[in-house]
Formats: sequence, C-alpha cells, structure tokens
Amino acid sequence: MSRSMRIKGPARVEGSLSVPGDKSISHRISMLASIASGTSTVTGLASSADCSATLDCIRKLGIAVESDRSELVIHGQGLLGYRQSSPVVDLDAGNSGSTMRMLSGLLAGQRFTSRIDGDGSLRRRPMARIVEPLSLMGAQIEATNGNFPPLTIYGKPLKAITYASPVASAQVKSCILLAGLLAEGRTSYSEPVPSRNHTELMLKELGASIHTQSSGWTSIEGGYELKPVVYQVPGDISSASFFIAAATILPGSKLVIKNVNLNPTRTGFLDVLAELGARIERKNIREQHGEMVGDLVVSSHQLTTDGRDRVLSGAIIPNILDEIPMLAVVATQLEGRIEVRDAKELRVKESDRIRTVARGIRALGGEIEEREDGFSITGPQRLAGGRVNSAGDHRIAMAFSIAALTANGKTEVAGADCASVSFPEFFESLAMLTAPYGAVETEPAQ
Ligand code: S3P
Repeated sequence: MSRSMRIKGPARVEGSLSVPGDKSISHRISMLASIASGTSTVTGLASSADCSATLDCIRKLGIAVESDRSELVIHGQGLLGYRQSSPVVDLDAGNSGSTMRMLSGLLAGQRFTSRIDGDGSLRRRPMARIVEPLSLMGAQIEATNGNFPPLTIYGKPLKAITYASPVASAQVKSCILLAGLLAEGRTSYSEPVPSRNHTELMLKELGASIHTQSSGWTSIEGGYELKPVVYQVPGDISSASFFIAAATILPGSKLVIKNVNLNPTRTGFLDVLAELGARIERKNIREQHGEMVGDLVVSSHQLTTDGRDRVLSGAIIPNILDEIPMLAVVATQLEGRIEVRDAKELRVKESDRIRTVARGIRALGGEIEEREDGFSITGPQRLAGGRVNSAGDHRIAMAFSIAALTANGKTEVAGADCASVSFPEFFESLAMLTAPYGAVETEPAQ
C-alpha cells in the first residue's frame, strides 16, 4: 500500500513535541541486549518499521522479547546464545541497512547458517563493505555478485583483525566491532573520518573492553560477556531535524522539542544551522548512558551565508549525512549559496538521495545543481506547490513535506507513508503543529 499526503502552504509550526526514540540507538540496544548475559529493560525504543525489523530478527534467533506500551524486556542469552530454529535461519531486515549490516557481525560468529534478506531498496545497497572485513575475520558469506543481499552467512569461530576501513560508515564499524566482540583476540578498526559512536558508548556501558584512541583507532577485546542493563533511549535528532528545519525557515514559528539525543557525532545539522544564524537553544543538557541528551527550543530566523559560499565537505559529512535532504530544502530558503561535496554515500542510501533531492526541488519549481558527490543550491527561492515522489525513501517524504509548507499552494507527496520507516507519527505531529492552517490533508489509501 502506498499513500500520498497533501500539504498546503504557507504555514508555520508552533507548539511542543517529542520525537521517536533514536533509531541508531534502538537498533544497537536491541542487538546488544540480545547477546548480554541476562535480562535487560529498555524504555523509549523506536516503534518504527526499521527497529521492528531488528526485533523480529532477534526473536527469530530464539531470544524472548516481551513488550508492553512503555517498555521492552529482552532476555539476553550471552554472546553465542542465538538458537537455530531451522537448518538455515531466514531473517528479514525489511528496508533497514542498519539491521542487515550490524546483525551480520553477530551472525558471522554464531555456529549455524542464516540468510538475511530485505526489500527491493535494501537489495540494491552495497554489502561488500561488510563482507570483505568479515571474511578477513574468517567468516564465510555469500552475497549476490559478492555485494548485494540476500546474504547467506555460515557462522564460524572468528579471529581478530586490524582493519582500516575505506568507508566512513557507522554501520560497517558497528558490524566489525560486534564481530570483534565474538572473535578471539583484539580487533582494531579505523575509518577515514569519524562516524557516529553509539556502538562504542553502548558497548562500554554494558561492560565490554573497548577503547578509542586519539589517533582514531578503536579496539575491542573478544570474548567479554556483556551485562544486562536498564536503558532509556533518547529522542532521535535525525527525526527532530525535520521540525527543527520547519521552525527555522517558516516565519513566525516556535517549537520546543524535548528529550533529544545530542551526541556530538550527530549534531552537525544543528551546528550548520547555527552558523547560518538559526535560533536554536539547547536546554537541560544531561548525560545518559554516556550519551548527551537535552531539550531544544527553536524559533524562526532568516538564515544567511553572509555573502560567502558555504561549502560542506570532508569530516562533517558523516555527521550530517541523514540530514542532507532536509538541509537541501533549508538551502532553498536561505540568503546565499550552499554547496555539498564528498557526499557520494548519499547515492547508496534508501534511495539515490542526490537524485531524489534534485527531483524534489525541481518538482516544486526550485533550482539545484547536481554533481556526482553532492549539489549546490542558491537561495532564497520561492517554491510552488507540486507533486514530489518520495521514491519510497522516508527522509525524502519528510523533507519535502516541510518544503511544501514554504510553498504557496498544494503539494502532493506521493508514497508519503514510507515515513513510518523511521517516524510513524510524523504526519500526525505535522498536522498538530500546523493545526490553525489545516496544512495536512490525508489522501485515501490507493
Ligand atoms: C546509521 C549509520 C548511517 C546512517 C543510517 C544509520 C547507524 O549509515 O545513514 O541512517 O545507525 O549506524 P552508514 O553507516 O551506512 O553511513
């Protein structure tokens, strides 16, 4: 089923909101609790389709997971505690690259064979980036053309490696650190520029022997049992970014977003907006399980590059990667020119996000210059209503729903229901925050 949404602009956002539990943290705590020695309790876990895919896989691997509305209880069975329910355990990662890449690290070290597959979008995403280092650890994995799902993983005892990854990816890093936890010896991993570090913080919290040096190398000792935890998942800054952008670019807006993860490896989007003049206050900052958490108060302000081109490239890219579609929409509304480079990874996300962003902006009458590893946009531009195709990509659906609020007229976001991959309540929240304008109309299911 694919459902469109109609959004009517112009409108502004006003009120207070909480966002779903952080997707990256939700995947990780589900996996780590499942291999801990004992029962963990998790509150605030994301209820999105992606995170449900991880929980379904874990259940299929014989781990008891009990849930009620407010908390989840995961009965971990130790590092090699997954159970083989059939000769080949069949697992479905759905649309979720995180599920497939990170869980593969744990499956590679079990003592049975599993096969992990996904939907049409996931089947087009590269897996050689995990197959190669896992093979160096002694894993045996078959992939379509050596690169694409489904993956058949013949579990085996693993040995530690020292690996300098050619790609800055937290999913790849997490996969190898998790495999390293199961391996014999000490695994060391480095990446070209730092990616999000939730796995490292969480492994430490659960008692693993893991250290990150100032040189950027992270080492993990194999064989350390993890202890169970009571864990509270904070709100997702990537989900919040759509509303942070809305409150910034829609004149007259004011928004409070409570309980958001503010890990510095994830807050590049806030830093970029602040440099352009955004009014974003961070309040009630606290530390929770090694993660920074706080509230955000955002009010609208005209953004500007102050007459200079703002080039986003290099080390900041992994930090803002998931927010780049939203940033592109913001760029249409600011005074000045923004250029994104070194972001070729966007082409292998849930959609080719350079192409889908460019198509979306053009569909609303805007202008963008597309390149192989990024794009440039000069603003401010007046967007008009139009029809944007989400291409089944949750972040495209949400970014262009915010774009629609800047436009004069109606925009149809086709296939908008894919927002549920990370943010099932997105349109409900959007409707609530724009209620006086009646900005959100739901189309009947097709
Ligand atoms: C994620 C890492 C990023 C990000 C994805 C979630 C994670 O992917 O785009 O949404 O939780 O580790 P890559 O590691 O492939 O860049």
